[in-house]
Amino acid sequence: MNRSDLALPIKENFFRKHILTMDQFDRLSIERLFVIATAQLENFLGHRASNHLVGKAVNLYFREPSTRTLLSFQRATTQLGGAIQIDFGAEHSSDAKGESFDDGLVMRGLYADTIVFRHHDPNAIYLAAAALAQAGLETRLINAGNGGDEHPTQALLDLFTIRRRRLPLGGLKIALIGDLKAGRTIHSLLRALACYDNVEVTLVEVPGLELPVEFGQTLPTLEFRQTTFEEALASNQVWYFTRTQKERAEVGCQVGSDFRLTREVAEKHAGPKTLIMHPLPRVGEIDPAVDAMPQTTYLWDQPVSGVAVRMALLSLINGE
Ligand code: NCD
Repeated sequence: MNRSDLALPIKENFFRKHILTMDQFDRLSIERLFVIATAQLENFLGHRASNHLVGKAVNLYFREPSTRTLLSFQRATTQLGGAIQIDFGAEHSSDAKGESFDDGLVMRGLYADTIVFRHHDPNAIYLAAAALAQAGLETRLINAGNGGDEHPTQALLDLFTIRRRRLPLGGLKIALIGDLKAGRTIHSLLRALACYDNVEVTLVEVPGLELPVEFGQTLPTLEFRQTTFEEALASNQVWYFTRTQKERAEVGCQVGSDFRLTREVAEKHAGPKTLIMHPLPRVGEIDPAVDAMPQTTYLWDQPVSGVAVRMALLSLINGE
């Protein structure tokens, strides 16, 4: 199984199975998710547990480092009354004894109702879906980052954050700044934005790490332009930064970001409705002196949205 095999059947079966790519979503399903995420946000902030996952287990199968994604899925699961199975990495499981990917996956699928899956190989999530299907298991899979390809739950929490800050998604003007080649959050975010009308995307690219042209061509509803860093800040409502994906860069390729937001530059261009976003981790793209500006979302709004959106997704795909 790979990406091209799944589009329609999964869309039709929406919220009844895996979350593999933003391609599965349309505007209606995103909006439906946000209604539930809004209620779950209240529950989370009010410390009210619910019982959607009582008697169920979520396996956190992470083969790449993670802080926010792992911990927010963990918090979302326990908030819904579910149990967590943390996978402590390949070296602590029977992977280290040479167990095959399929055998290991099927075992996890037997013990858990959902597997949250992060892997450096972009195709591994599709192989995992195929292994579960082959074994006749109904275990749900959620893509928590597949190599440099996608990170759909991050895109959903990013859109939810913009919505919570009362910026309309239709007609949004957003600047994407940094590594647009291997930044999986960028790829999923673009697919998500393509579900809305008249979205203008300004690309501010690190040389050598540009958004692949073919990728942009798959999203004809988006209007793309390119400009300089400061011109992009001056002309966009949302500034979305991302770090250079050093671990995915080709040898000899530039690995630092050219774009660093200082407090001075932020104050020069930010209006009261500007949003300064970053999926984190940041490694120099945004100076900590910017953090106190009310326009920032990366230290509170986005991480909190992450729990709410993941609660909504987990409850929906585990629903009756
Ligand atoms: C991102 C990721 O893992 O893709 N982090 C996250 O999940 N919030 C971004 C990154 O690592 O640069």
